[in-house]
Amino acid sequence: MVRFFFFERPPGQIIKLLNTDYNITTSSLCSVVESVGDKVEEVAVGDMVVPVFLAQCGNCADCLSARSNICSVLTYLPGFMPRDGTTRFSLAATGEPVHNFLSVSSFSEYTVVDVANVVRFGDAALPPEKACLLSCGVATGVGAAWKVAAVEPGSTVAAFGLGAVGLAVAQGSKMRGATRIIGVDLNPDKFEIGKKMGITDFVNPNDIGEQTVSEVIQEMTGGAGADYCFECIGSVSVMAEAFKSSRMQPLHERLLNSVWAKPCDWRTVQGWGKTVVLGVDGSAAPISISSSNIKRGRSVTGALLGGIKPKDDIPVLAQKCLDKELELDEFITHQMGFDEINRAFDLLTQGKCLRCIIWMDGDNRQGEGRV
Ligand SMILES: NC(=O)c1ccc[n+]([C@@H]2O[C@H](COP(=O)([O-])OP(=O)(O)OC[C@H]3O[C@@H](n4cnc5c(N)ncnc54)[C@H](O)[C@@H]3O)[C@@H](O)[C@H]2O)c1
Ligand SMILES: [Zn+2]
Repeated sequence: MVRFFFFERPPGQIIKLLNTDYNITTSSLCSVVESVGDKVEEVAVGDMVVPVFLAQCGNCADCLSARSNICSVLTYLPGFMPRDGTTRFSLAATGEPVHNFLSVSSFSEYTVVDVANVVRFGDAALPPEKACLLSCGVATGVGAAWKVAAVEPGSTVAAFGLGAVGLAVAQGSKMRGATRIIGVDLNPDKFEIGKKMGITDFVNPNDIGEQTVSEVIQEMTGGAGADYCFECIGSVSVMAEAFKSSRMQPLHERLLNSVWAKPCDWRTVQGWGKTVVLGVDGSAAPISISSSNIKRGRSVTGALLGGIKPKDDIPVLAQKCLDKELELDEFITHQMGFDEINRAFDLLTQGKCLRCIIWMDGDNRQGEGRV
């Protein structure tokens, strides 16, 4: 077990506000090991590590399989440490337990994390404000393009929702050689930043009149749809719309007026469009999609952390950052001290921030990079 992380000057990065009564919330983060438990050999005091909400024990069937990135032994336990079901926090005044969140609870100066939930960076000298981006949102988007969809060169991609996850999908797809990347967002402010991340075309659902987003994407792609669609919002209706936007070859013109070519599914023939669901719909509501379309080749899948196996794949992403293949600068729109964390949440919920770096010892830097 890793015991305490001393946040000498590491940042946390906000992803979502999910606060219950007493619960230290989580974030993407980067930290320095302050001490380790007796049996821990993988990391040592002073190592820079990235704690991650998904564990990788390395020994279970899922950790050993290339098909899964969700450890089946150290599964996330809501509120508790994954190995023993305890919490290591309590209120000093009353002793009441304070629950963990997503196994890492990083909005605190010190936290206790299972060694299965940390990734050591080794020699990769990535600055902490960038390293922390690889522990959740950016890794999710890039990983989805890389490991889940395995986007091929020349592909057309559509990203629904241009927060950090959707923009990372764009970056990952560009890295894989996609030539057309369509971004869909209600917030027009996302379009400018999207261009820097590889988005080539934009669709704002508020600006398309009576048309649906899938109809617009089909028009933009000669009737076929995008090869890969990624839902990065957490809305089941958008997930269904993403599925309808994915590639399904329309019936050849010469057959369109034939007697059997009735509206709906018969007007399409075969498709290989793949939809990847990344957004979190808290209610886990069902999605309505055509079974006939699935028989004809359209598929839908999803992933936590973009299919990334934390200990194997995050160091690969770190190296890609050092090689300038993966650019992280544009994701960091704000940096501030821990005392301003509520302002950071406000900026996030108002759609004004992609990722806000929280420095636990206060943001002492002057000028450059401070927003
Ligand atoms: N699968 C995973 O492991 C994983 C990891 C991180 C985040 N997530 C989830 O991914 C989702 C995106 O995360 P984020 O940090 O990028 O969020 P975000 O809130 O920063 O971005 C969401 C974007 O979607 C846009 N949007 C909202 N409703 C829309 C609609 N109906 N049509 C078009 N655009 C719309 C917003 O304007 C915003 O730009 C969240 O649900 C988050 O919980 C999943
Ligand atoms: Zn495992």
